[in-house]
Amino acid sequence: MNLSSKQPGSSLGKHLRGIYLVSLIFLVATLLAIQVIREYRAINQSILTSGQLIINTLRASVVDPVVKTLSYDRLDTILGNVYKKNKSIQCIRVYEVPDHLASAVGTPVSGKDNSQEIMEMLLQTDKDKLVQQKEGKYIFWSLLKIDNEIIGLFRMAISPEQYKKRLYRSVLLFLGFALLLATISSWLFTEYLKRRIIEPLSATSEIMGHFQHTNLDQYLTAIDTIRDKLPNNEIGNIATSYRNVVLMVQQRRRELERIVTAIEQTSESIVTTDSKGNIQFVNPAFEVHSGYSAAEVQGQNPRILKSDQQEDSFFRELWATISSGKKWNGTFINKKKDGTLILEESSISPIISQDGQITNYVAVNRDITKEANLEQQLNQAQRLESIGRLAGGVAHDFNNILTVINGHTQLALLKMKPEDPLREDVQVIQDAGAKAARLVQQLLAFSRKQITRQEILHLGDEIQATKKMLDRLLGEDINIILLLDNNIWPVMADRAQFEQILINLAVNSRDAMPDGGKLTIEAFNLNLSKQNNMYHQQIAIGDYVMLRVSDTGEGMSPEIQKLMFEPFFTTKDVGKGTGLGMSTVYGIVKQNNGWIDVASEPGKGTTLSLYFPRCFEKSAPPLQSSEATQNLDQLDQGIATILLVEDDKEVRKLFIRLLSNLGYTVLEAIDGEDALRVSSQFHDTIHLLLTDVVMPKMHGSEVAKILKQKRPEMKVLFMSGYTEDTITRHGVLKDGINFLQKPVAPETMATAIHDILSGNNPRA
Ligand SMILES: Nc1ncnc2c1ncn2[C@@H]1O[C@H](COP(=O)(O)OP(=O)(O)OP(=O)(O)O)[C@@H](O)[C@H]1O
Ligand SMILES: [Mg+2]
Repeated sequence: MNLSSKQPGSSLGKHLRGIYLVSLIFLVATLLAIQVIREYRAINQSILTSGQLIINTLRASVVDPVVKTLSYDRLDTILGNVYKKNKSIQCIRVYEVPDHLASAVGTPVSGKDNSQEIMEMLLQTDKDKLVQQKEGKYIFWSLLKIDNEIIGLFRMAISPEQYKKRLYRSVLLFLGFALLLATISSWLFTEYLKRRIIEPLSATSEIMGHFQHTNLDQYLTAIDTIRDKLPNNEIGNIATSYRNVVLMVQQRRRELERIVTAIEQTSESIVTTDSKGNIQFVNPAFEVHSGYSAAEVQGQNPRILKSDQQEDSFFRELWATISSGKKWNGTFINKKKDGTLILEESSISPIISQDGQITNYVAVNRDITKEANLEQQLNQAQRLESIGRLAGGVAHDFNNILTVINGHTQLALLKMKPEDPLREDVQVIQDAGAKAARLVQQLLAFSRKQITRQEILHLGDEIQATKKMLDRLLGEDINIILLLDNNIWPVMADRAQFEQILINLAVNSRDAMPDGGKLTIEAFNLNLSKQNNMYHQQIAIGDYVMLRVSDTGEGMSPEIQKLMFEPFFTTKDVGKGTGLGMSTVYGIVKQNNGWIDVASEPGKGTTLSLYFPRCFEKSAPPLQSSEATQNLDQLDQGIATILLVEDDKEVRKLFIRLLSNLGYTVLEAIDGEDALRVSSQFHDTIHLLLTDVVMPKMHGSEVAKILKQKRPEMKVLFMSGYTEDTITRHGVLKDGINFLQKPVAPETMATAIHDILSGNNPRA
């Protein structure tokens, strides 16, 4: 910015210069007047003095003291000489007596000759001189005396013209000098004014007049540049004060910017309304929360977000609170522009002016939909977890009971003749026992206590393989569509369990589509990253294989969806559903570290999405099933000694009978400690340790470990009702372990023992 580039101060400059000039003129005029008066007085004095002098000289020379008369002979000459010499003398007259002129030179002064009057006046006043002013002329009267004897009267008129010319010259000279002085001083004054006042003021007002609100830093630098050039006076102070004001504006603006940034960046939606509740401002988070743009809601009432989920009384209470000047906190179930519901934790405060009036309201809302969903998910998972523990415990005891019932039933049947009249009744008991055992298995599956045989599965192949069975199961009215991606990643799962999942899901869909419909089974790879895993905080990010089963059935209400995984929850008629299908699916998927999503709406069908973690292992060792494949009769009788450790008395009794029937020598122990004692007292070979896993005092695995040290050649076979981490790793059998799932059917046990003792079992 150039100090002299602008003119805002020029009017002030003109003004100041005007004042200066008027003052100057006034000064000059005053000085001039004083000068004129002084000159005038000086002229007056000078005329009187020189007139007196001339008269005195003449008085002496025009009188002849000897004869005591006028010097008549020289009179004219003397007067002529004086007159010639002195240009200001207009005329000189000498009277012998009044009215009798003796000599005269020059132009007489007009008017009557009043020498008689003057003479008398002089005599009366006893004076001999008198000066009169007449028509601007000075008239000197003087008595001519010798020894007090009046011999004549002298009169001389002096015109001040010569003197006035001198006065004019002096005035002109003064004026010329004053003009020169005024010009120089006014130039100096103007320069001073320009440099010290006008230009600094112009520069200051120029910078003030161009407030650069967009870039205050740059503006402050410009002010500094100008201020540095300003004098250190009031003008400099103005600039400094102005700079401080701008600095303050800058600080306030920064504070404001911080607040605005916070408002714009916060994830909480902020809405301000006027006192009637009409929206004035919304922040970007509001647009995200509600789906409405700021322009769309401007001037609208926030009730556009109202869903029909909350009573009118709720809103009445809210309005009553805030309109009475109090803060309101609560939770809204709002409706977004697209119709979806959003749960918002809200705090609304009235803004009250100094005179106590409510001018605005400001609402700060936090979207808690996700938290609420996650909390619901977590609650459901926790509830299922505790139900699972309960079910697992019940199933364990049940297994032992069923082992006894089923075992004895099977033993009885073996001993019965085909024509035995009781055979049919016992058969019914056996079937019911088998059904109960399946139920227990389902409960175990739900409580993730089912022992699995994990292997690498390709879900696409598995689905293809079950398609036929599903077709049969669902009937002709339901159209099964398979959408299976190529190259689906392998997963590690139990084949039978996976089949169980497919069947349970398909049967549920069938039941939901009594008039037929479409069942779509999809399988594809899915990578859950941090971004797309927002809603699955229960499962880790990573690669999954997704099994998605969708139907066009009746769908489920949110309430049913909440309960559907709970064991024994069913909406089906008595006898039609046990309510264990989905809980089994849930347990299996969770046991495989997977997850289930449900999407369903009444009347619109259901989609269940099951996530199975991708398996990175190349291959798993082929596992041999310990399923009974042979009949008990066909098994050769064992000649071996078996140490049976079982805490349940009835089960123990059953197994002793069974093993004795098979020809084995059975050593019996009621728990781990007892087993160690029996072993120490028995000095022959013990071929096999057949032990329960979960027992009081000592675990089956511990018994086996201790005995194995003493009897390294002894084989071990575990039996258990559910998974135990002493022999399994998270429900999967550890390698090299022989295991029988309770309830153990006699045939199964006979086959397993035979296999182990004859070295057929690769795991033995
Ligand atoms: N695809 C589906 N469509 C509609 N409702 C379903 C669907 N799947 C499950 N449900 C609901 O969930 C409930 C529980 O299902 P679940 O499979 O656990 O038990 P169930 O089918 O009733 O009995 P079960 O499977 O033991 O014979 C069902 O009764 C039904 O109300
Ligand atoms: Mg079912």
